[in-house]
Amino acid sequence: MARFASVMLLTTASLANFAVQAIAVEPRSFGKTKDGKAAKLYTVKNKNGMIAKFTDRGATLVELHVPDKNGKLADVVLGFDDVSGYESEGNQYFGCTAGRVANRIAKGKFSVGGKEYSVAVNNEPNALHGGVKRSFDKVMWNAMPFAKRGGSGIQFRYVSPDGEEGYPGTLKVEVIYTLDDSNSLTISYHATTDQATPVNLTHHSYFNLSGAGTDTVLDHVLTLNCKSYTPTDDTLIPSGKIAPVRGTELDFTKAEVIGKRIKSLIETAALGYDHNFVIDQEKPASGLTTAATVYDPTSGRVMTVMTTEPGIQFYSGNFLFGQKGKGGKEYKKRSALCLETQHYPDSVNQPSFPSTILKPGDKYTHKCVYRFSNK
Ligand code: BGC
Repeated sequence: MARFASVMLLTTASLANFAVQAIAVEPRSFGKTKDGKAAKLYTVKNKNGMIAKFTDRGATLVELHVPDKNGKLADVVLGFDDVSGYESEGNQYFGCTAGRVANRIAKGKFSVGGKEYSVAVNNEPNALHGGVKRSFDKVMWNAMPFAKRGGSGIQFRYVSPDGEEGYPGTLKVEVIYTLDDSNSLTISYHATTDQATPVNLTHHSYFNLSGAGTDTVLDHVLTLNCKSYTPTDDTLIPSGKIAPVRGTELDFTKAEVIGKRIKSLIETAALGYDHNFVIDQEKPASGLTTAATVYDPTSGRVMTVMTTEPGIQFYSGNFLFGQKGKGGKEYKKRSALCLETQHYPDSVNQPSFPSTILKPGDKYTHKCVYRFSNK
């Protein structure tokens, strides 16, 4: 109660001091988890009417209302109406923070400092997105709303104990979501550890720029600032090679309709696009490189993804199965896409990939911006 009181004070003070407009941070109940914890829903707005809602379960983005070319808002991310939906079979990492190691680890095995570790195999025969019971998408995070001149948002914190889901070291993690008046949602990650451990965090929203629940994203137009990718075996584990996209269905260096060349990929293990692309580094002063742009010709919405990370997983929602989400809407196969900025899959077992090992005394940092505009 005390914390919420001070948050409201902070919001009021910000409004008075900085004349921040149309920003509200009002936590409300999001239901109870199966083990009786009270989940909350936090709302953030910007002066253009954009609204983002988050829950502390999984440091998850629940709703994101974005204007189209006529200024009409639509919620462009998949999700559920309360926390019980997020605990159901229908939840395929919707909007969550994935970790401690997002993406795959071959056979759930790796070694750090000469010691071997085994983590749960939950995506036969590999480990996916950090584990089974206490992966970062499933735990409750401490949430602290803020409102300031540069934007408003939520700071989420979680301390992952040594040995949780089989990973070494106590990891202190912070994920800060900021919505600003340039219609950007920025996600900043920070982590420290007391023992060497692999860390690879990502954001797992499923986007449909025509609005969540619209039938397909195969009509969206994608550009990737990526001339190469990491080829994989049938279980989506990289071979360790970096291969050019030129002449393949993965060449999005020029804007291309997503569905145009997907047919041959539907017959592969990935059932469509589910690939890690190597981002062509621009090294701008901000440290952020534009990795991807998605354009929806129907609504005119454009989403630009910028990041400090070396890779981006483009997943075309191939395993969505018609589960019912927010407002009873059905989420059909390939009706939403993920663009997950991260290190490459199975980096912990691939010495030639940029390292995901965080050591005591070092700081993990990662920034990802989803910026919305129209054309
Ligand atoms: C992976 C997919 C997986 C999905 C789970 C994505 O990040 O690349 O293979 O099915 O997450 O929802």
